[in-house]
Amino acid sequence: MSDVGTDYEYLKKKILAITGVDLNAYKENQMKRRLDTLIRKHGFKDYVEYCECVRTDKDIKEEFLGYMTINVSEFYRNPDQWEFLDKTVIPELIKRFGKNLKIWSAACSTGDEPYSLVMALSRHLPLNMIKIYATDIDNQILAQAKNGIYSDKSIKGVPADLLEKYFEKVGTSYKIKDEIKSRVEFKQANLLDNNYPKGFNMIVCRNVLIYFTEEAKDNVFRRFHDSLVPNGVLFIGSTEQIVNYRDLDYSRKNSFFYERN
Ligand SMILES: C[S@@+](CC[C@H](N)C(=O)[O-])C[C@H]1O[C@@H](n2cnc3c(N)ncnc32)[C@H](O)[C@@H]1O
Repeated sequence: MSDVGTDYEYLKKKILAITGVDLNAYKENQMKRRLDTLIRKHGFKDYVEYCECVRTDKDIKEEFLGYMTINVSEFYRNPDQWEFLDKTVIPELIKRFGKNLKIWSAACSTGDEPYSLVMALSRHLPLNMIKIYATDIDNQILAQAKNGIYSDKSIKGVPADLLEKYFEKVGTSYKIKDEIKSRVEFKQANLLDNNYPKGFNMIVCRNVLIYFTEEAKDNVFRRFHDSLVPNGVLFIGSTEQIVNYRDLDYSRKNSFFYERN
């Protein structure tokens, strides 16, 4: 087949116009490779043909949004960081801001992260006081999150007592109970847009910024800064350390937790 990947500039422009997603914000090599694989799989002749289909076919558009980044997630991903959250960060947040914490799981994927947050908070607060706002760009993945059914691989990090209390075994899968589900409000939102919600005591954004260029990443950290209240906490992923945190007006607690000044 002909080389689908000759005019990436064209693809970026068209995709922005059709979906509102600015591919300039994502690392180019990685993204182009992924999209070329998808386009070849369908047998499109070139980017022009593919973009036309993204414009006219809802399923192909949804597939694009689902494919452009990896949706892999799991409960209590990187358990040491959740241990620090449980033992240090949550008690500090409650001391500092009281029991009505406003928390945002940004790029929440299949819901493992916001549901883990509800369970982690349930060790410190009554469930009916917990509310997590959870967003992702991908509507299909949000539908899965709301469904709340997981494989044994996804739930392997859940502490045994919480697994027993908050999951129901359905065949070989695990269904999260409504008392946890009802504490999370899911909404579709693009982190590359400007209109971030405000007033959060903690923002959790993990394993998505690795796909972004340095410039796009810094812009997200700046917007998170404006979305956090003073001394609010930003919890990020394992490979996403903020090297220039001082320039961005954060203090560093450790590699994964930063505080807005
Ligand atoms: C690897 S998952 C991370 C899930 C979870 N935070 C975790 O650490 O397990 C990355 C998620 O980022 C989402 N995503 C990618 N680009 C985005 C954007 N511009 N705005 C919002 N979400 C985005 C994807 O749809 C995907 O669900």
